[in-house]
Amino acid sequence: MIKTILFGACGKMGRVIGKALIDAVDIELVGAIDPYFKGEKYEKIIGTDKISLEVLGSIEELKEDFDVAVDFTNAEAAYQNIKKILQMGKRMVVGTTGLTQEMINEFKDLAVKNNTAILIAPNFALGAVLMIQLAKQVVKYFPDVEIIELHHNEKADAPSGTAILTAEILSEEMKKHNLTHKDATKVEKLPGSRGGKLDSINIHSVRLPGLVAHQEIIFGGLGQTLSIRHDALSRECYIPGVLMAIREIIKREGFFYGLESFLNREEA
Ligand SMILES: NC(=O)c1ccc[n+]([C@@H]2O[C@H](COP(=O)([O-])OP(=O)(O)OC[C@H]3O[C@@H](n4cnc5c(N)ncnc54)[C@H](O)[C@@H]3O)[C@@H](O)[C@H]2O)c1
Repeated sequence: MIKTILFGACGKMGRVIGKALIDAVDIELVGAIDPYFKGEKYEKIIGTDKISLEVLGSIEELKEDFDVAVDFTNAEAAYQNIKKILQMGKRMVVGTTGLTQEMINEFKDLAVKNNTAILIAPNFALGAVLMIQLAKQVVKYFPDVEIIELHHNEKADAPSGTAILTAEILSEEMKKHNLTHKDATKVEKLPGSRGGKLDSINIHSVRLPGLVAHQEIIFGGLGQTLSIRHDALSRECYIPGVLMAIREIIKREGFFYGLESFLNREEA
């Protein structure tokens, strides 16, 4: 059994992941941590009769030992949680977005120094990971590319971690092949109309109720466009990726970024 604790256990993602951890035959949820729900019965919050677990306010209240900590909170909270877990020499799977490059560099050092392992994945949906892999192939032939990401209107950060990761990967690929993106816009009559820019790639963020998590990568070429789109239709799409990460991180040491680090299915 992989003993797991979950930070952000009562959030939108935490409730879905928490239930999946309880249902998994090889994983045991030994700690549900969420300061805003401290003392409440976790089984009631997520609607299960398979466990009896009181929500803890912090890691300091945890009495059980554990193998892996999972974090779906917010960048500020995750920063503190990750540092504590890595300093304990424990393994960590992080889905929280909005972490800065400085924070990430610090986690890299801490993981190595404490002989442990951490995976930070801005998107645990396998379809989204494959979307980026496909886009990496396409950009070599269609360097004129823009990204539109669409999320529910309670999302705290913009653009999404997935959009940033996509742009970083595509930009790196463009540099490798000396490709440039053409943009004739000189005046933005409304500031921000062309979205945010990562290197030469524009990212547009839409926030509306009714949406879950969606992204379209549009490539433009002479007389044609090519779009690659991923739609997360419910938060359950993240479950297989998170379970895969927990099962894999216990075998690893070091720092890993993106679920693709753990995709090892041989090419046919
Ligand atoms: N990587 C992915 O695939 C993926 C997918 C969806 C969301 N996310 C990210 O996951 C994070 C959580 O998203 P959400 O929609 O569940 O947010 P949410 O606001 O619904 O939940 C966050 C929870 O964290 C709790 N929390 C705050 N501080 C804490 C702390 N110090 N310790 C423990 N818990 C704490 C809050 O009380 C809340 O219940 C966000 O950063 C979001 O962008 C990642």
